[in-house]
Amino acid sequence: MVKLIIDTDPGIDDAMAIFYAAAAPDIELLGLTTIFGNVTTATATRNALRLLEAAGLDVPVAAGATTPLVLPPFKPSAHVHGEEGFGDIPAADPKGTALDESAADFLCRMAREHKGALVVCPIGPLTNIALAMQRDPEFISNVKSIVVMGGSLEEGGNITPHAEANIYHDPHAADVVCQGGSKVVFVGLDVTHRILCLPEDFKAIAAKSPELGGMLQEMSHFYLKFYLEAAGKNGCSLHDPAAVIACTHPELFGMRDVPLAVSCEGETSGATLAAADSGRAPVKVCMTVKADEVKSLFLRRLALLP
Ligand code: BDR
Ligand code: CA
Repeated sequence: MVKLIIDTDPGIDDAMAIFYAAAAPDIELLGLTTIFGNVTTATATRNALRLLEAAGLDVPVAAGATTPLVLPPFKPSAHVHGEEGFGDIPAADPKGTALDESAADFLCRMAREHKGALVVCPIGPLTNIALAMQRDPEFISNVKSIVVMGGSLEEGGNITPHAEANIYHDPHAADVVCQGGSKVVFVGLDVTHRILCLPEDFKAIAAKSPELGGMLQEMSHFYLKFYLEAAGKNGCSLHDPAAVIACTHPELFGMRDVPLAVSCEGETSGATLAAADSGRAPVKVCMTVKADEVKSLFLRRLALLP
């Protein structure tokens, strides 16, 4: 059983990842922390609470940073996930509220309390994780691993030709996380672009799980339209679910040990770069994936939901 905290900017594929975690018998979800990215941090927090309530999960949410470490604040663009984060599904207020504790403090405390067992899975920009590393020098030694959805070594970018979106939105934070050593795993576009979920897959999910799967299918229309218009693909990548699946099924991914750095300037800002001469300890970067097995696990487990 993996003790997991997901750091998230929900977000359509974030919703898929969180519902997957709710369904997975090998995941104990200990909480969500929120971050800007697909939406503002305030909207991400509201959406995270809403997803947990929909899934019937009573776990805490801690709201995260509202701005990147160094870059100025930015307005999330609505064209990938919609104005409110869930495609055309309108905004709604959750019943619950977030903790008083900040995301970084919550992460540091949970890592101490579950020393050696906590897996943190950031599926948005890495600001909260960098803040936790800076706040508590023992954060990295306390966690079991940090499995990031982000980056791209050979695949090129998705928000610019060079950068993947989660890294691009806070490259300085991502560069801090790159210095976390062998416990840090990057699940980036090199693998997530290989895992495509098609319109008929969402239809099948909704048929088996009318409530939560139905909600994902409704959101997916907007996301699929973006993929079709922007990339000419008749399916969307399972970015964030792939990172959550890598937390419990690392054997489905081929990883390379790479000292990694992030470009923080100019037109390559947000690019993740192999930095052999940097003296940095290598992190693990996923370069291959058993895509059919990841997808079939995703579909099988979502079918267990109401
Ligand atoms: C990442 O960016 C966001 O749009 C998605 O939610 C995912 O975390 C993919 O590049
Ligand atoms: Ca995300």
